[in-house]
Amino acid sequence: MSHNTFGHLFRVTTFGESHGVAIGCVVDGCPPRIPLTVADIQRELDRRRPGQSKFVTQRREPDEVKIVSGVFTDPQGGEQVTTGTPIGLLIENVDARSKDYDAISELYRPGHADFTYDIKYGIRDPRGSGRASARETAMRVAAGAIARKVVPGMTVRGALVQMGEIDIDRSRWDWDEVARNPFFCPDAEAAKKMENYLDGIRKSGSSVGAVIEVVAENVPPGLGAPIYAKLDADIAAALMSINAVKGVEIGTGFASARLSGEANADEMRPGNAGRPEFTSNNAGGILGGISTGAPVVARFAVKPTSSILTPRQSINRQGAPAEVSTKGRHDPCVGIRAVPVGEAMLACVIADHFLRHRGQVGETANWPFPPQKK
Ligand SMILES: Cc1cc2nc3c(=O)[nH]c(=O)nc-3n(C[C@H](O)[C@H](O)[C@H](O)COP(=O)(O)O)c2cc1C
Repeated sequence: MSHNTFGHLFRVTTFGESHGVAIGCVVDGCPPRIPLTVADIQRELDRRRPGQSKFVTQRREPDEVKIVSGVFTDPQGGEQVTTGTPIGLLIENVDARSKDYDAISELYRPGHADFTYDIKYGIRDPRGSGRASARETAMRVAAGAIARKVVPGMTVRGALVQMGEIDIDRSRWDWDEVARNPFFCPDAEAAKKMENYLDGIRKSGSSVGAVIEVVAENVPPGLGAPIYAKLDADIAAALMSINAVKGVEIGTGFASARLSGEANADEMRPGNAGRPEFTSNNAGGILGGISTGAPVVARFAVKPTSSILTPRQSINRQGAPAEVSTKGRHDPCVGIRAVPVGEAMLACVIADHFLRHRGQVGETANWPFPPQKK
């Protein structure tokens, strides 16, 4: 299997299967002297960890990360910092129940990757879905924790804005609420509704999809490389690479098709300290593939979990008709744990473009405006 690496200068390679000994990643290209501890990474991993509520898979993985290379205690400050060498991260798998997958090892679950892995490689590891499992996304979250530190002052946050038929009310958006409910939902009232709704879905052995919004603030203007590495194009590819993602939009996205040119235009005016301001952000912080300095906003749609108890028609590996019903431990709404994964992918793409911009153009942010001569 090739293509397990993403990014150009901030380059992440992941490895490992759901029920193998361990999963891991190598983050190459991280600049030296960035303070980095296990706690920085563990904090993010704990937000994605399975088994934390009845609304996610009951697999009990502590997801304890080890930094195996790329850091050293700075003799000058006594702080652990990156050295500029590859950062190796490892998480052991401790709660694999491979027997749960015996029943489907010769079958193709509709909506999952069983059939396509088989037809492509002629062999697949059915235990916990092998490499197709979203267990791999733990390493993206770990890499994202490092990426967040590469871009000075940047914050990346995410929230679940729709679960099945339940939408949030954006007027009730409260970022603090995201950490207070098990859904990463920014609207307390919608989160309450989601509890009963998802409980019913879970008990019936079914599943449901979701929409997640990710926002990066304090992104320097000027990031993104037209034409074939536009910031929005790379963000879309990164979010689309997350398991079960079926749609991505930037800023106002698909809804912009309904707007007039006047409503869609993000008007500009002079702001503080020579920084121009945008009076709206339909562009999602990106124009011409280059960041504007406004928040970078993206949304992605996650399909319902394909491993469900309800029997579905399929075929077996011999091509004969078969009925499939998936037992074992699965997320009834994979969109919930996809929130920290989306944040991580956004952080990695922006960190990569931050370093690429520095490589070609030099320091970021031509503030004060208008641009000064370099
Ligand atoms: C955080 C997360 C957890 C997931 N957990 C499950 C799961 O428990 N069961 C399942 O069938 N799919 C799960 N998925 C989705 C599958 O990994 C995915 O549907 C499968 O690999 C096929 O890929 P595709 O949906 O992108 O085509 C999860 C996805 C994410 C993002």
